[in-house]
Amino acid sequence: MNADVEKIRKALDLTHSTPVEHAQAMPSAYYTSDAFTQLEEEHIFRKEWVCLGRADEVAAPGQYYTTSLVGEPLLVTCSKDGQISVLSNVCRHRGNIVASGSGNQSRFSCSYHAWTYDLKGRLVGAPHMQDVEGFDPSSCALHAFKTEIWQGFLFVNLSGDATPLAPRLGALAPYIDNYEIGKRPYAFAKETTWNTNWKCLAENFMEGYHLDVTHPKTLRPLTPTALCEHVPSNGHFNAYYSYYDPDYPERGPFPPKLTDKEKRCSFMFGAFPNLVVAAAPSILIYLCLSPNSSSAVNIRWGMSSLDEDNPITDEQIAFMDTVNLEDKAKLETLQKGLQSRYYRPGRLSKPDLEGTIYDMYRYIANRLGSSVNLG
Ligand code: FES
Ligand SMILES: [Fe+2]
Repeated sequence: MNADVEKIRKALDLTHSTPVEHAQAMPSAYYTSDAFTQLEEEHIFRKEWVCLGRADEVAAPGQYYTTSLVGEPLLVTCSKDGQISVLSNVCRHRGNIVASGSGNQSRFSCSYHAWTYDLKGRLVGAPHMQDVEGFDPSSCALHAFKTEIWQGFLFVNLSGDATPLAPRLGALAPYIDNYEIGKRPYAFAKETTWNTNWKCLAENFMEGYHLDVTHPKTLRPLTPTALCEHVPSNGHFNAYYSYYDPDYPERGPFPPKLTDKEKRCSFMFGAFPNLVVAAAPSILIYLCLSPNSSSAVNIRWGMSSLDEDNPITDEQIAFMDTVNLEDKAKLETLQKGLQSRYYRPGRLSKPDLEGTIYDMYRYIANRLGSSVNLG
């Protein structure tokens, strides 16, 4: 095995024996090694539940979008019976890409030789194939992946053998139930790519240490670093409360069951490996991450509003765009710094500020540490 990978796996092992109070950042290769990224793709992204976005992005029959996950082209559809499918977007004839973009249609015709599929991926047309001996259209459906919807988020499991997701994330219920995020209607989703390792972005979204310094005019007046509070992980998620500055105005309208405490904070959580969420009283912001390479991350991010009567405003979108640009700038210089041969990992801050990072290290350690047999 590659020397960088060995070093990373040993560093991951140490997270089990080192208490969070003594936590140290991971070696740079954790964020820069192509060989380690391949392991993550193979043993995490192809085996685990991976979030693609909000399920109601395809709420109406015929709605679809295309995306990709660790190089696998995917087609997400809603069929006439309201069922959501995540299909392999690869033609069962000679392997071209079938659908592109997003929209609403009932059939997808491959643009190479016009094999045509319905919303469940069944082959419903194949020109000039009727005389081909032994050709069986019923065995030529697009591959349908295993899916699960949790709190309104659509997850896919490429390998098809992951155990159910909801029980793993059940421990989040007391923290998120009152936000009623499963009911929140889809507003928009966008895809973009940043030049940073996918874990740098996951860590950044989930730590409050950088808020004051990276977002001095946007988030610092709202969710200052000093008010962050770490929430214990069960190994499947990380989370923290990001409390609002007492001087910041109310952020209603509120879901009916929200407590006074919950009205004054955003609940930030990550469902490992790739979904990070800010649950605020009236909006939901999420990012779905997947590695593009060791130094680039594909992002599907979006927002949901509180309800149909309170749509996301242009001002809220502009605010999030600004915050994202502030993070992007830091994460892209971070990736350059991590390429240096002279960087030595530093200590992490106290658990309320960076404990979530350690939770994620331990998640990765449980899947890719040196005690795990990777076959
Ligand atoms: S590859 Fe799709 S129809 Fe031939
Ligand atoms: Fe940030």
